[in-house]
Amino acid sequence: MPVAGGGLEGVVASPSAISFVDGQAGKLLYRGYSIQDLAQHSTFEEVCWLLWHGELPSPKEVEELRARLDHEAVLPPEVLQVLRVVAKKAEPMDAGRTALSTLGCVTRLPPQPSRDANLGLAVQLVARTPVIVGAYHRLRQGLEPVPPKPGVSVAENLLRMVTGADPGPQAVRAMDVALVLHADHEFNASTFTARIVASTLSDMTAAATAALAALKGPLHGGANTAVMASLREIGTPDKVEPWVKAQLAAHRRVFGFGHRVYKTTDPRALVLRGLSEAVAREKGEPKWFDISTRMQEAMFREKGLYPNVDFYSASLYHVMGIPDDLFTLLFAVSRMSGWTAHVLEQLGDNRLIRPRADYTGPRERPYPAARA
Ligand code: SDX
Repeated sequence: MPVAGGGLEGVVASPSAISFVDGQAGKLLYRGYSIQDLAQHSTFEEVCWLLWHGELPSPKEVEELRARLDHEAVLPPEVLQVLRVVAKKAEPMDAGRTALSTLGCVTRLPPQPSRDANLGLAVQLVARTPVIVGAYHRLRQGLEPVPPKPGVSVAENLLRMVTGADPGPQAVRAMDVALVLHADHEFNASTFTARIVASTLSDMTAAATAALAALKGPLHGGANTAVMASLREIGTPDKVEPWVKAQLAAHRRVFGFGHRVYKTTDPRALVLRGLSEAVAREKGEPKWFDISTRMQEAMFREKGLYPNVDFYSASLYHVMGIPDDLFTLLFAVSRMSGWTAHVLEQLGDNRLIRPRADYTGPRERPYPAARA
């Protein structure tokens, strides 16, 4: 039996028709469409539909989806009560996981629900995750949650519920593109976690809760918040070079760089770099983008590493007024679409996911007579 590389590197676990990642060419496709085309021409709502159904929606279908997202964008009172209890104490991803888990407690679906029932739950989870993020952030400040505004996009409501103010069109567009870019990425750690949970015939909310727990780690989705901490530690563009050299000399990771699959620039990082530069220019706050570009140059020169999706999202979200520690929850808002799409796909042709271990423990041995 072949033994996989560390961390299942290079292992193809199962077929999937949702995303294709070409690590050598730096290409990402959702259901065959390039991420660049989708970022330029599609909204996050259209991408949700594409991930779930395999085709881009008609104008009528996307309007129906927007109406259902509006209708579902409300939290059961139990979830709000739990957020009121934990908001001032819990880290964002822990609060998000707890709220999602509470949602699972009050969302009743029959055992092994139909695909349609699970599709309805997927819409509900995508609609409610941004409301959880906004409510958490307002409550931890001692403020009442800002309700989502009907008839506007997930991106616009996410910004409104987090910042408490009506966002401008450029910020809405930037957030919508960021949500498109973070929606799915094949069998990344959090998505594969969701598939494992779904493969036991547990439920979709449990799978999403487990996935969000996996996303928290700084080797995965938590890297964007860690990137912002690095940018702040560096402070000015002229300090990038010595900081990078010191990090690498001490064998410390530089978050936002490297990737298990991409061996060139992550195509999402290229789009996010452009967005970060544009928003920095519009806000008149180029410092964080300037530090970031210097870091990209230094990391390539010193270690041959490229930026991943988490690198430029940090400077972009910061200049958009998003608090550093909320960046990974924003990642979860988007990736909820991918997680639920993969749960649907797993259940469509399910077999329990159960790999083997390469046992390295002691051979069979007699029990000590003195203890018997
Ligand atoms: C995401 O999988 C996905 O698709 C994830 C994601 C998605 O959309 O779902 O793309 C989102 O999680 C992006 C990755 C975010 N994480 C980070 O930015 C954390 C920093 N990156 C690294 O920890 C690392 O690059 C990983 C974890 C992302 C991938 O690591 P691997 O494939 O396990 O590679 P490795 O850790 O074995 O590193 C190989 C070499 C090592 O050098 P040597 O010891 O062989 O000399 O490269 C070095 C590492 O030290 N290296 C780094 C580095 N990344 C790799 N050195 C410094 N800083 C880094 N960031």
